[in-house]
Amino acid sequence: MANAPGTVTTPDFYDYPQRPIERIAIDGAFVEIAFVDGATLRAYGPWLVENAVGRGGVDPATREGLIDPALLDLDTKPIAADINPEGHVVIDFAPGPAGATYHSGWLHHVAIGAHRPGALLPVATSWTAQNQREPRTHDGSRVLEDRTILLAWVDDMLAHGVARLRGCGTDPGFGTALAGLIGPPRDTNFGPSWDVKADITMVGADDTNSTANSTLRLGPHTDLPTRETPPGFQFLHCVVNETAGGWSTMTDGLAVVEALRNDHPEHYDALTTLNWVFFNRGPNIDHRWSAPLIDLGQPTAPLTLRAFYPVRGFPDMAPDDVPRAYAAMRVFSQLAASDRFQMRYPFEQGDLVGFDNRRILHGRDAFSSGGERHLRGLYIDHDEILSFARVSHRRINTIEGTT
Ligand SMILES: [Fe+2]
Repeated sequence: MANAPGTVTTPDFYDYPQRPIERIAIDGAFVEIAFVDGATLRAYGPWLVENAVGRGGVDPATREGLIDPALLDLDTKPIAADINPEGHVVIDFAPGPAGATYHSGWLHHVAIGAHRPGALLPVATSWTAQNQREPRTHDGSRVLEDRTILLAWVDDMLAHGVARLRGCGTDPGFGTALAGLIGPPRDTNFGPSWDVKADITMVGADDTNSTANSTLRLGPHTDLPTRETPPGFQFLHCVVNETAGGWSTMTDGLAVVEALRNDHPEHYDALTTLNWVFFNRGPNIDHRWSAPLIDLGQPTAPLTLRAFYPVRGFPDMAPDDVPRAYAAMRVFSQLAASDRFQMRYPFEQGDLVGFDNRRILHGRDAFSSGGERHLRGLYIDHDEILSFARVSHRRINTIEGTT
């Protein structure tokens, strides 16, 4: 949405309420702003120049920055700062633009941290099988028409890592239609969506196949640890299930990692520092990545669990570290499959589960091959789910950090 006519144009396309300012002052290269509600912002002059809309800093059409850092004048200083009759901030710079105007609500959202990636999103909370027996569930029969249901399901996926839709029907295209409301699915060598069936006849042919296409038990795992960035979320739709057994399992990796850190520091150290090579074997593919099972990433990035024994290939560490890497991995997998951490529940025809593939370890029990069992799955990256959630929450203004 564009800013309303007559208001200050912000460096984005969002509407902000005016936020009363109590005091504004210049301190060298900085402008200090104190809001009536107690929020404060100490803004560096060159950063303000970069964010001056229509004054050479931000392009009003794209709302993107225009100044190449190589050309940025770091001697720029604010020489006058005031509040205009509408309550917004007007700053003169020297050298630099005069009369640059900044919306008080936009400045305030930076002051309270609402510009950061975590704003507008539910907070992740870990769970164990002791306090969560099955995934939180929403009405799949109306989710394609009702954005409120869709957002509630997405919010539960973000907070708990897994959430279920029931009553989705048996159209194999349901998951793709659902993803279409959120963002583009992530394509892989398995295709933009893929089937899970008890059919391993393709092995040895040109097609790529997986242990998933058998009737075997699948222990707790994450998909595609063979990639630099494994897929963020997975949607798995049970299209047909006429078999006995084959219950789904889900384990919150956040809770397992926490338990390892507290109770098994030696295993936690091995799991977070010793690398393994994972690779997808196929006649026409060769995807490989080397990383620890618990990849802590960066302080601002979510952790990535790499746990899929069918595609774990080689220890990528000193030979003397291999025994402790195996010992740690065994404890990790035992905890992930334990009644303490792992929920088990039937996967019924018409159910769709969405889960964070880098946080949640999923699996299934073995099942009889007497009837048909057909799942249709797809991957969709974190970026798409997070963008959908932010846009939706900004519209309905329900989470702290919205305007
Ligand atoms: Fe899987």
